[in-house]
Amino acid sequence: MSTAEKLPCADFLLSRRSVRKFSDEPVPDELIYRAIDIARFAPSAHNAQPWSFLVVKDREKLEKLAKIHRWSKPIANSKVAIIVFSDEKVSPKSHLVDGAIVATYLWLALHCLGLSTVWIYTLEQAEEIRRIVNAPPHLFPVAIFPVGFPAESPPPRPRRSLEELVHVDSY
Ligand SMILES: Cc1cc2nc3c(=O)[nH]c(=O)nc-3n(C[C@H](O)[C@H](O)[C@H](O)COP(=O)(O)O)c2cc1C
Repeated sequence: MSTAEKLPCADFLLSRRSVRKFSDEPVPDELIYRAIDIARFAPSAHNAQPWSFLVVKDREKLEKLAKIHRWSKPIANSKVAIIVFSDEKVSPKSHLVDGAIVATYLWLALHCLGLSTVWIYTLEQAEEIRRIVNAPPHLFPVAIFPVGFPAESPPPRPRRSLEELVHVDSY
């Protein structure tokens, strides 16, 4: 297959962007639930589905989450954010991998519904995030997604070349 050939599913994946500025238009709850409803079909080790989703709308909590580190400010630009948690009691070994997969599905599901977001890093702020939203210690916040309709259209960011990335038979 030539890389020039049109593939709608590839176009969809390649059109996803990190969006950090959102319009004032409120996001209907229905779209948030719809996105999570799609994301929950992500694959997981042993099909254990060690995840849950916290929808945050409370302004005070959003402002606190926006201050967890210097790149978390997009949360303050949104009216709603979704925190993806993985459950280390359910899948002690694979919860982080499974959590990252379901988080990626969620990002793509939001994109599919015309919503925009950006993955906000959480790995070193787990304790602080749990404290802000009263989450129990066995739940690990894998990612925070501030959600909204886009107020910017960022161009594609550069990617490393295929030649640099692919190896055959040995490194
Ligand atoms: C694990 C992970 C953590 C990220 N953390 C942040 C973050 O804290 N703040 C932010 O603005 N963007 C964050 N990003 C977004 C990346 O900067 C973005 O995906 C990358 O620059 C490529 O741009 P694109 O998503 O538009 O293709 C994160 C992305 C991933 C996958």
